[in-house]
Amino acid sequence: MGRHEAWRPPGWRCSWHTAFLAASVLSSCFLLTRAQETTGISIRVVPEVLKEGDSVTLTPEGLDLKNIASCKWYRGAVEERNMIISFFRPPFSGETKGPAHTGRETVKPDFSLYITDLKPADSGIYSFKPEGPGVTITGATNITVSETLSNPVLWPAEAIVAENASVSLQCNTSNRLDVNVTWFKDSNPVLDKAVLFNRNRNLTLTAVSKDEEGMYTCKATNPVSKATSNPSKISLAYGPNNVKLNQTGTVTLKLGSRLALLCTAESLPEAQFRWFFNHTNMNVTANTFSTDLTAWEDGGNYTCQAYNSVVKKLASASVNVKLTTQESTPPGSGLTPGQIVGIVIGCVLGVALIGGLGYFLFTKTALGVKRTYNIQH
Ligand SMILES: *[C@@H]1O[C@H](CO)[C@@H](O)[C@H](O)[C@H]1NC(C)=O
Ligand SMILES: *[C@@H]1O[C@H](CO)[C@@H](O)[C@H](O)[C@H]1NC(C)=O
Ligand SMILES: *[C@@H]1O[C@H](CO)[C@@H](O)[C@H](O)[C@H]1NC(C)=O
Ligand SMILES: *[C@@H]1O[C@H](CO)[C@@H](O)[C@H](O)[C@H]1NC(C)=O
Ligand SMILES: *[C@@H]1O[C@H](CO)[C@@H](O)[C@H](O)[C@H]1NC(C)=O
Ligand SMILES: *[C@@H]1O[C@H](CO)[C@@H](O)[C@H](O)[C@H]1NC(C)=O
Ligand SMILES: *[C@@H]1O[C@H](CO)[C@@H](O)[C@H](O)[C@H]1NC(C)=O
Ligand SMILES: *[C@@H]1O[C@H](CO)[C@@H](O)[C@H](O)[C@H]1NC(C)=O
Ligand SMILES: *[C@@H]1O[C@H](CO)[C@@H](O)[C@H](O)[C@H]1NC(C)=O
Repeated sequence: MGRHEAWRPPGWRCSWHTAFLAASVLSSCFLLTRAQETTGISIRVVPEVLKEGDSVTLTPEGLDLKNIASCKWYRGAVEERNMIISFFRPPFSGETKGPAHTGRETVKPDFSLYITDLKPADSGIYSFKPEGPGVTITGATNITVSETLSNPVLWPAEAIVAENASVSLQCNTSNRLDVNVTWFKDSNPVLDKAVLFNRNRNLTLTAVSKDEEGMYTCKATNPVSKATSNPSKISLAYGPNNVKLNQTGTVTLKLGSRLALLCTAESLPEAQFRWFFNHTNMNVTANTFSTDLTAWEDGGNYTCQAYNSVVKKLASASVNVKLTTQESTPPGSGLTPGQIVGIVIGCVLGVALIGGLGYFLFTKTALGVKRTYNIQH
């Protein structure tokens, strides 16, 4: 005992009086632990780390077997409704199953409780109560059965975030207390700017900048297993920048021809498009717009408006269409019908030489030229 005393760090030295006072105060919260410490039979748990499917043996230690004829084991506190099993030692050999028996518990002659095929739900307090003349002592232990973790599900799997905004990732995994969650960005532990909630299951980044872009994963760990989630990609939103139409400035087209426009924008997420003629919304949301220029008032200002819903920014590009009865030349093309006929003949000759593959090329080329030719008319 003296040796034991000398072993303790200085902080542990205290008078019996103080210790008793502290014990009294704490006893209401830690009843079972106290009972185990003061009057308790200590219970050895083998193996120490338990995973689902394993078996465990809970062995009461230091029992004076001569005085003990029978015992009871409980799942939880010593209460009738928690009784797993009541066991009698030889010569009165026998056992009675209680309401908390699951079919997996047996007691050995040394009064140890043996549980097979452990489940996470078996975690908790087990109480032991020996019975015999003058025996009042009891014991209890708390076991944790850890599950074999499956991969957590991290969502959203992709997030596009406006600069300086915040974003939350949710790591969906077992909620059991023995399961820890840690976070990684591009395979390195996440440290900066991350705030964790809900026992680390929720990672929130605030004031997101370029530095927070990357692939995130969460990892669930318990004493018997670990599992990593799917990646979640966080990107910074930008744009729309560099909004362009494939016709610019003023174009002169023949009355009766068809106007076809393509709008492009650099944007993340992809821009949403709207088209206006003069100031009228044309209710078209594609990146292309086409219309037949059948009336003089179809000439005017055609505008593509690109919108980034995350950045909440608009940008636009316009082309001014002038109509004429004259044959006109679309900008950038500059080919006369004669030249086009030449190209078509050239292509046909080339295609004939290429053979099997040629049919596809011919079709594509022919269509392209045909469209140009229509505008020429
Ligand atoms: C048993 O131990 C676990 C882990 O230490 C703890 O979280 C839990 O509250 C304990 N259970 C009881 C009933 O004391
Ligand atoms: C984000 O915050 C930084 C620092 O406060 C500021 O310089 C920057 O302009 C902000 N960016 C946006 C898009 O608001
Ligand atoms: C989390 O995972 C569990 C089990 O896979 C599932 O039942 C639950 O719906 C998930 N919760 C969310 C919010 O995805
Ligand atoms: C959970 O993580 C904390 C901090 O990293 C660590 O101290 C603790 O032992 C871990 N618990 C388990 C069950 O892995
Ligand atoms: C994560 O925590 C943040 C901050 O408390 C909260 O706004 C967000 O709704 C949480 N996300 C989820 C999915 O619970
Ligand atoms: C513009 O793009 C549209 C749609 O792709 C296309 O039909 C049209 O020929 C293009 N115009 C020019 C001048 O390239
Ligand atoms: C677009 O839709 C609005 C509302 O439905 C309608 O008032 C307007 O006339 C439409 N514009 C065109 C060009 O069809
Ligand atoms: C569009 O604007 C042009 C030029 O301002 C004008 O000539 C044309 O008549 C307008 N068209 C319509 C339908 O408003
Ligand atoms: C065309 O319309 C857009 C949007 O209304 C405007 O910004 C632009 O100045 C106009 N261009 C011409 C040539 O009228």
